[in-house]
Amino acid sequence: MEVLETIQKRRTIRIPFNERKVLKRDLDVLLEISRLSPNGDPVSWELVSVEDYATKSRLAQIVEDDFGDVFQKDSQKFRRVFSQYPRWMHFSEAKAKDGVVLDKPKFAKYFYNFALGKTFGPLFGKLGIMNSEFKAYCKNIINNPLLFGVFRNRHFNAGSAGIASLVNTGSMLQNLRLTATSLGLCYQDIGWITATKESSEKARQLLKMPEDYVAINFFRIGYIDDLDRRSQNPNFRSAFRRDLKDIVNFGKFGNKNFEVAQMRRTDLEVLDAIRGRKAERVSKPVSKDELGYILEAARWAPSGFNVQPFEFVVIEQEDGASIAVLENMERRDPDPGPCEALAKGGVLQNIRLAARALGLNTEIKKPALSEEESLRQTLYIPKNYSLLSLIEL
Ligand SMILES: Cc1cc2nc3c(=O)[nH]c(=O)nc-3n(C[C@H](O)[C@H](O)[C@H](O)COP(=O)(O)O)c2cc1C
Repeated sequence: MEVLETIQKRRTIRIPFNERKVLKRDLDVLLEISRLSPNGDPVSWELVSVEDYATKSRLAQIVEDDFGDVFQKDSQKFRRVFSQYPRWMHFSEAKAKDGVVLDKPKFAKYFYNFALGKTFGPLFGKLGIMNSEFKAYCKNIINNPLLFGVFRNRHFNAGSAGIASLVNTGSMLQNLRLTATSLGLCYQDIGWITATKESSEKARQLLKMPEDYVAINFFRIGYIDDLDRRSQNPNFRSAFRRDLKDIVNFGKFGNKNFEVAQMRRTDLEVLDAIRGRKAERVSKPVSKDELGYILEAARWAPSGFNVQPFEFVVIEQEDGASIAVLENMERRDPDPGPCEALAKGGVLQNIRLAARALGLNTEIKKPALSEEESLRQTLYIPKNYSLLSLIEL
């Protein structure tokens, strides 16, 4: 499957998976991909497969207990998280371009909209309005042919290098999501197990990982009946993202006149791109359509609660182009844990893969503080945006 096609087609699948086993040949591909470092740095993660029913059930119990403790006993934290839900959870078909939709029967939608409003949300939350969602979520931890824990070695924890290794792990996860999509498999991140330090630590102990390791994410892979038919349904696909013209700035922040005449396709298969292959390149300058291809790939990156914090400034140069990747600090994940850093890796990986499909190299840099200040001034980056990376194409 072609690179951008896979990126656009990939979706988080939240319904129960059926009992079909994942073929050994597909599992081998997934494991091979999980060992590739997306940017050449040493691999800092370890995947742990969770196979038996009893262990999966105990992981699900950890989430249920955590939900009980955090949300129903610690009222301050509960309010903080819950007061964000109305912003990122929608109970009717997505008119919005961000957040997630919880499908509810028609009559219930009005009630949910009211009950999760800012005023009554915390009250209804305490009364357990979200309990059935959490129960369904916990069932997904149990019902799947493949469940993996993602661990990182604490030695990679220190300072900015620590963040970089977490971002790199996020790129690896995006590779796995795309690999699953290209193999016709379904994928869901199970970030709740690692959303708090307490539950992450319980998961580490349960899986008997040494103290040097910390659990940063879980994900499940499997099949559902009728994926192709269901994929046609826009609600099932949660097919909404902010428009390119809202997130792309041209030359400087605020210049929103970026339009792409035609969204192109390339000849590069996503698995080849993930393995590091790059298409042959004939023309030198990077065209607007090519920038559109790369930014469209960036737009479809997954983020916790679909908060889509990433925005871009494109800087055209004579023999190439650069993309400044910004993070809108007003679009924070309600309960992030390591999720925000992992999401950064997803957007960077989509850009890398799209560039490879066009035969372009990417150099992804985190500008030094002094350089960052001058870039912020030249590009008119507002204070509530952080500069994640500068990517040279
Ligand atoms: C690091 C990370 C953690 C996530 N954790 C969860 C999760 O715990 N449960 C879930 O259903 N989706 C999770 N998601 C998926 C996002 O909610 C999803 O990507 C977003 O809503 C956009 O939808 P899409 O993936 O279908 O495009 C996670 C995504 C990322 C990047």
